Amino acid sequence: MRQKILIARAVFPEVIARLAQHFDVTSNQDDVLWTPSQLIEQLQGMQGVFTTGSERIDAALLAACPMLKICANMAVGYNNFDLDAMTAAGVLGTNAPDVLTETTADFGFALLMATARRVAESEHFLRAGLWTRWRYDMFTGSDIHGATLGILGMGRIGQGIARRGALGFGMKVIYHNRSRLDAATEAQCQATYVSKQDLLKTADHLVLVLPYSASSHHAIGAAELAQMKPTATLVNIARGGIVDDAALAVALRNKAIAAAGLDVFEGEPKVHPDLLTVPNVVLTPHIASATVPTRLAMANLAADNLIGYLLKGKPLTALNAAAPR
Ligand code: GLV
Repeated sequence: MRQKILIARAVFPEVIARLAQHFDVTSNQDDVLWTPSQLIEQLQGMQGVFTTGSERIDAALLAACPMLKICANMAVGYNNFDLDAMTAAGVLGTNAPDVLTETTADFGFALLMATARRVAESEHFLRAGLWTRWRYDMFTGSDIHGATLGILGMGRIGQGIARRGALGFGMKVIYHNRSRLDAATEAQCQATYVSKQDLLKTADHLVLVLPYSASSHHAIGAAELAQMKPTATLVNIARGGIVDDAALAVALRNKAIAAAGLDVFEGEPKVHPDLLTVPNVVLTPHIASATVPTRLAMANLAADNLIGYLLKGKPLTALNAAAPR
């Protein structure tokens, strides 16, 4: 008998077709945002679920879905998974690393440049019909080339941003991470390890690329923003909750830092109302990995994990070692 899987959000039809060659698939192409109890209801009798990072997998859901064996996230981040509860319940979690690294690093740089060079703010000004003449100080921003690029969180994406900064823009790259990179990787990225305090104090541009967890909650709050240069820019392409958005809005309004670029938000898709009213912030709707080839590769990797685990016991990118149910 074919196993059953649920695809919890809308996804590429070709990925659904691939999965349908192996499983009885229930998909959600209408992209209904199910409540936790609706998700539990949909998961009854299912062995696998394809998630996108928005669906919370916790002890309550696992207890209510005794047939479930694998949750395959179409995202590199997996803070929607309670991994300890999944391991305890014998449910495997997988994520979608590597395939999005370069695309996401590209976007980190795009957001950094848009922020430092005031691209969005000046475009809004032009569209509003306010551009009547040239002025020497109109939308003067800060330079990228030759500046000091700080990176907080130096995994694969952080390293991609470091390479772009050092090799493409002649930036001095400094980073802080839970653990220091080996010397060869540091040399490849031309990156120097510093304390978090030195990173905050020295960076002209600070890019956040660390995973969200209880320990990274509000890693950048009022105290950290106060240590940054008043000319500095801050870019968050990691996860909402790493930055205290209310404190950031205050810092931007008071010009405690020059500008910020945010792709992720606390409680997204809601955005802190104060961020919507400050001009010196570029806001994008969690699109750092959003190119067609990359999103397709992420979806295919989630599908490969479902196929690999449920049919052969061999997932590609397992997050835990769950003794199967
Ligand atoms: C996107 O945010 C991801 O985690 O893949």
